[in-house]
Amino acid sequence: MRISVIGCGYLGAVHAACMAKLGHEVVGIDVDERKVAELSKAAAPFYEPGLDDLLRDVQETGRLSFTTDMSAAAGNDIHFICVGTPQKKGENAADMSFVDSAVTALLPHVAAGNLVVGKSTVPVGTAARLEGLLEASEPTAHLVWNPEFLREGHAVQDTLSPDRLVYGVKSGEEEHVAVAILDDVYAGPIADGTPRLVTDHATAELVKAAANSFLATKISFINAMAEVCEASGADVTRLADAIGLDDRIGRKFLHAGIGFGGGCLPKDIRAFMARAGELGADQALTFLREVDAINMRRRTRVVELTRELMGGMLLGKRITVLGAAFKPESDDVRDSPALSIAAQLQLQGAVVTVTDPKALPNAARRFPELQYEPELSKAVAKADALLLLTEWEEFRRLDPYELAVSVASPRILDGRNVLDAGKWRAAGWTYRGLGRP
Ligand code: UDX
Repeated sequence: MRISVIGCGYLGAVHAACMAKLGHEVVGIDVDERKVAELSKAAAPFYEPGLDDLLRDVQETGRLSFTTDMSAAAGNDIHFICVGTPQKKGENAADMSFVDSAVTALLPHVAAGNLVVGKSTVPVGTAARLEGLLEASEPTAHLVWNPEFLREGHAVQDTLSPDRLVYGVKSGEEEHVAVAILDDVYAGPIADGTPRLVTDHATAELVKAAANSFLATKISFINAMAEVCEASGADVTRLADAIGLDDRIGRKFLHAGIGFGGGCLPKDIRAFMARAGELGADQALTFLREVDAINMRRRTRVVELTRELMGGMLLGKRITVLGAAFKPESDDVRDSPALSIAAQLQLQGAVVTVTDPKALPNAARRFPELQYEPELSKAVAKADALLLLTEWEEFRRLDPYELAVSVASPRILDGRNVLDAGKWRAAGWTYRGLGRP
């Protein structure tokens, strides 16, 4: 099939490459010339495992191209909307301006019978509104909401073999003409057994908001338990192991630590609350305010714990923060808890050095006032304390004996509860986890 992918960020670049991998003819369209230039050279404009290889692989086939020119969408059968919906400045609601301008620019190129398929995470009701615009411009085209559930760091695999496909069509019926067309687009994953659900527009939009809210709630639940564990001397990691064995609960997403960040969960739960308020259903989601508050409290807690670890004084203390990305295997620093903690420590007088295998250029753009050191051995030298805040594999594997000779003082705060506390203590370190004795 001939496909346009509008927006080539974390979602669209991966989607475009994967659609080409599935055998389609794809053009990726973005307003950012730098992104288009890099993608055209088969280089991912951000770090995502496997994406560079995939881009090279499919570009050799000639099935994938990138451009800033929206008219390249003309003649294609399907147009995916993959632009961002960030949080509005000073408000909880989502900023819909990128979606609106992408659709407005696309409409003149939409032909009879085409599908316009929304993948961006949007407030419920957006599809109905866009459907009106599409009908006015090309009455025989169809609008589908097909939310994307990919995780950064696993984006390629999540797109090629998703957990599920959700098609939100106007009627909500399996017989809708768009269903068969999308089944052709996703013929590969469907043949591999990916479940596919057809819903109405509003349900499809809500599936994404609900899924992310559930995940955020699960993380904040275990972080709330960490607070109780801290107050009572219990160990949240063993608690999570024990409750996680109940398969109604499950162990996934029960890692207590510095909380969630990134370009999705924080802004999605806020946008969901804002939208529920507009719909008069705000009471239904007041619990998400608590989920958000628990999450933000973790960051303050780490700053307090670091102060305790330093004997009550942060001023002039050399603190090395291991990790800047919001999660490992990503260079994304949007709402990164690690960077937010690093910045708070620096504000309180600590001398903070941040190291990360991939995210330092993005981190330096966002927080230019922090010091960055790409080389781990230099970053930890003479540190008064280490803070492990993003659980990259190379930080998990650090040898406490080797490291003890480089630092000024062997103190570590394990913000992700991934180190073996016994081993670090045996090597002479003062070890602190979160929600652990
Ligand atoms: C999330 C959803 O998982 C994905 O389905 C959706 O499409 C986009 O948002 P992503 O933001 O890539 O994906 O990351 P995810 O793996 O969900 O992690 C989010 C944050 O939660 C990270 O900061 C991570 O460190 C944190 N987290 C995750 C925890 O603190 N504890 C956990 O147990 C799991």
